Amino acid sequence: MHNKLANDHLSSAPYFARKAVPVRELHAGHRNEILSHLLQLNNEDRRLRFGTQTPDEVIALYVERLDFNKDTIFGIFNAELNLVGMAHLAYLPEAKGRPRAAEFGVSVLPEARAQGLGTALLKRSAVHSRNTRIETLYVHCLVSNKAMLHLAQKADMLVEYAYGDADAYLKLSPASPATIVEEAANEQWADLDYAMKSNLKQSKQAWWWFLGRPKLVI
Ligand SMILES: CC(C)(COP(=O)(O)OP(=O)(O)OC[C@H]1O[C@@H](n2cnc3c(N)ncnc32)[C@H](O)[C@@H]1OP(=O)(O)O)[C@@H](O)C(=O)NCCC(=O)NCCS
Repeated sequence: MHNKLANDHLSSAPYFARKAVPVRELHAGHRNEILSHLLQLNNEDRRLRFGTQTPDEVIALYVERLDFNKDTIFGIFNAELNLVGMAHLAYLPEAKGRPRAAEFGVSVLPEARAQGLGTALLKRSAVHSRNTRIETLYVHCLVSNKAMLHLAQKADMLVEYAYGDADAYLKLSPASPATIVEEAANEQWADLDYAMKSNLKQSKQAWWWFLGRPKLVI
């Protein structure tokens, strides 16, 4: 396989000012953060993410029905521990004679875009897919979704177009010791990053309690 995401030695540069982006695996305890993240998307972003107009109630139902035992959800938190990016890796039902496949859906809040978060979520999902014996990673999006198609093309995904929709496929190589280590390292780094941000947030709050909260918080 000669695609960028399937290569063991894929470099994470130049994304996010050359820092590795801490991508965490989320669990059922994160439902509120996921809901709040998705509700912050405007109508157009929701259309791009879900392929159709998606009112708040439908998003709430989608979040309620997320099955963390079956699928994998990844997230990226900012310094305030707000979920600024998330990806849903949905495992498609297995069919005899067909490669095992998973569908990737992603969203990044507007203020956090163009810093490599979408790419980091795609890369992490590709590595996790390899480590869980997925052979094809699949993205369904609208042809008008230039940012997603750009991400897909950068990852050397094969893109097929039909009636205003685009399907992008990434053939994955089997897992290797390098992909296992890469995922474990990213998970540890994401846990450490989260713990540091959490400590920083708590100490900031303690100082504000002591000194009074400044009017302008930078
Ligand atoms: C698609 C999305 C996840 C990208 O997130 P992101 O964090 O900005 O992604 P990255 O920063 O890793 O990369 C974005 C790339 O797209 C490019 N891009 C952004 N808008 C673009 C456009 N209109 N046309 C072409 N390229 C575009 C950026 O320049 C960047 O390219 P570069 O890395 O070569 O500089 C984000 O735009 C989003 O949440 N959109 C709404 C939901 C959605 O469309 N989801 C995908 C369908 S499942």
